[in-house]
Amino acid sequence: MRTPLIVGNWKMHGTLGEARALAGAVRDGLKRPRGVEVVLCPSFTALAAVAEVLGTGPIQLGAQTCHHEAAGAHTGEVSPAMLVDVGCRWVLLGHSERRKEIGESDGLIYQKLRAALAHKLRPVLCVGETAEERRQGLTFPTVEGQLRAGLAGLAVDAIGGIVLAYEPVWAIGTGVNATPGQAGEVHGYLRGLLSELASKEIAQKTRILYGGSVKADNAGDLVAEPEIDGALVGGASLNAPGFIAIVKQAARVGAASKE
Ligand code: PGA
Repeated sequence: MRTPLIVGNWKMHGTLGEARALAGAVRDGLKRPRGVEVVLCPSFTALAAVAEVLGTGPIQLGAQTCHHEAAGAHTGEVSPAMLVDVGCRWVLLGHSERRKEIGESDGLIYQKLRAALAHKLRPVLCVGETAEERRQGLTFPTVEGQLRAGLAGLAVDAIGGIVLAYEPVWAIGTGVNATPGQAGEVHGYLRGLLSELASKEIAQKTRILYGGSVKADNAGDLVAEPEIDGALVGGASLNAPGFIAIVKQAARVGAASKE
């Protein structure tokens, strides 16, 4: 049984006031989430404020990226140690917006992944194909290349500490989500690769989230697909009632599969 995980990726949104209000509303709406884990990933500037709002409650804190070194002359960067210090337990890595806008390579993402694990941050490694790659039938080779490069050389145990997120680029922020069937097919493929790269046991335990236009009205169907273990939610995580509804749907699916 893999407990569903719902991660809110706030991207570059939220003043301190807005971040506090949103985190407070999510906290109050999810006092005792059962059968589901919840993580909020605000921008760097809001991490300390959101950490304070979440306190020692069940909702966890994550960051949207990190540098691959613990400290040093890297203007503008934030290290994994700093993220741990502010209360983060999670970090998103390899998001397609960073791959495209910042030019993050698979090699760099691998270094970040190692650094995050070394600091006991749990990485959510994002992979996904563009619309063009899907049209050309390159979905599997694309995600396979990203996964292999991201995990290359990691110890088997370390792979067990990672969460994957399948985020087709064509579904991010477009309002067009992958169907449960489309996502399930890719998740199954990724799980097969994990079996090969780590072990069958780790592959069965690893959560693979789906991301891309997840909202309250499609989350239930997506998370009900056996291969989908939760969601990485962008736009819809900026609205507390909508995000809470997504978490509750995932919790229902999680509870039902426990029976
Ligand atoms: P979206 O973004 O939910 O707004 O499509 C998902 C993501 O980029 O993680």
